[in-house]
Amino acid sequence: MKNITISIEKAFGFISEKAVSGYENQVKKCAEMLENGTGKGNDFLGWLHLPSSISEAEIADIEQTAGLLRKKCEIVVVAGIGGSYLGAKAVIDALSNSFAQLTGEQKPAIVYAGNNISEDYLAELSDLLKNRQFGIINISKSGTTTETALAFRLLKTQLENQVGKEEAKQRIVAITDEKKGALRTLATQEGYKTFVIPDNVGGRFSVLTPVGLLPIAVAGFDIRSLISGAVAMEKLCGMDTPFAENPAAIYAATRNELYKSGKKIEILANYHPKLHFVSEWWKQLYGESEGKENKGIFPAAVDFTTDLHSMGQWIQEGERTIFETVISVAAPNRKVEIPTDTDNLDGLNFLAGKRVDEVNKMAELGTLLAHVDGGVPNLRIEIPQISEFYIGQLLYFFEIGCGLSGYLLGVNPFDQPGVEAYKKNMFALLDKPGFEAESAEIKKRI
Ligand code: PA5
Repeated sequence: MKNITISIEKAFGFISEKAVSGYENQVKKCAEMLENGTGKGNDFLGWLHLPSSISEAEIADIEQTAGLLRKKCEIVVVAGIGGSYLGAKAVIDALSNSFAQLTGEQKPAIVYAGNNISEDYLAELSDLLKNRQFGIINISKSGTTTETALAFRLLKTQLENQVGKEEAKQRIVAITDEKKGALRTLATQEGYKTFVIPDNVGGRFSVLTPVGLLPIAVAGFDIRSLISGAVAMEKLCGMDTPFAENPAAIYAATRNELYKSGKKIEILANYHPKLHFVSEWWKQLYGESEGKENKGIFPAAVDFTTDLHSMGQWIQEGERTIFETVISVAAPNRKVEIPTDTDNLDGLNFLAGKRVDEVNKMAELGTLLAHVDGGVPNLRIEIPQISEFYIGQLLYFFEIGCGLSGYLLGVNPFDQPGVEAYKKNMFALLDKPGFEAESAEIKKRI
């Protein structure tokens, strides 16, 4: 099996190779802090060796539960927000046929809830589920997240009304803290099947726990292969690998050096629309991990070539504060050849006989060169193919890259104090018990 690779040569017109290799000792120290648990947020390092430490019993339990849901349900609703749904959606979308929901190929169909508070969304979801055989995977580490709890209350009520309380219990799985939180209490009382999110794994680093693995298995994908890919990356990015051969070390060092040189925004680009949610997952991972203490690269994402016709102008000629990281897929899974046309009215016969991917690759190369010429440094992450194994590699690569990068930046990459501010205001505005003082205060401001 190959590995994903990183190329940073196209950043060297902007930062020097020497500056990047100068990070070797610092990165080593950061890796030791992760390994020995001596850095900030060291109570949240459970993700570091998750791939190699998942037990056969846990995998088998996930597969068995997935099998039951697959048998009983036409639709499974994954209720969760942030780290409690983005990883699963990223992997499921990446591995699914682009039109799976329409072809009926995805059985059961996976839909999502609890990641917004839109009344229209929830009403439409309820319509969709009416008289359908559905199940729910309710995911919340804290067990108290409003968006998720609200959606779950609605979904649970509907399911119980449709199939009765007892059958509903067979179709609901809760993934939450081992002991704490309202969801744990509810699950214990109702007797739901549960999985635990380990205490020492934060939401955005939880894709390789049941949080990601159960929905991915329910969608019919091979979680063993996903984990194997992550294990391969865990080895490759481990303490024994020299700096120059460790892709996560190179990524962390390069992006920090670019940040120091004034490149404050990183744009993650892909050339396959099914990777869109990998970027969404990555945005949360890096944004929530690094954006604090008034610092941190702003993680943005684009889908190419689609967004070359919208954001392309800004990227080429806008403010020069960005760098671009491209996820490049070496080989597509499918083959489409461009046909010859006798009339050639569209003028495309020069492409006849070529594969569509060849055109995509030239768009990729042309864009890379144009953006570098326009003042945008480029990093390129190549994955051999979109498959469980390589997506597993990519997930772990980004996770360890994030841990190292956050430590290089000097922040605690494993907390998210800033997320509380909106919740406090929302609860105060909604007169939540316990928020009386905040309610009085905020109401004076509106
Ligand atoms: O990364 C994180 O910790 C957050 O994005 C959480 O995953 C998100 O807020 C959901 O939290 P919970 O799982 O407690 O409902």
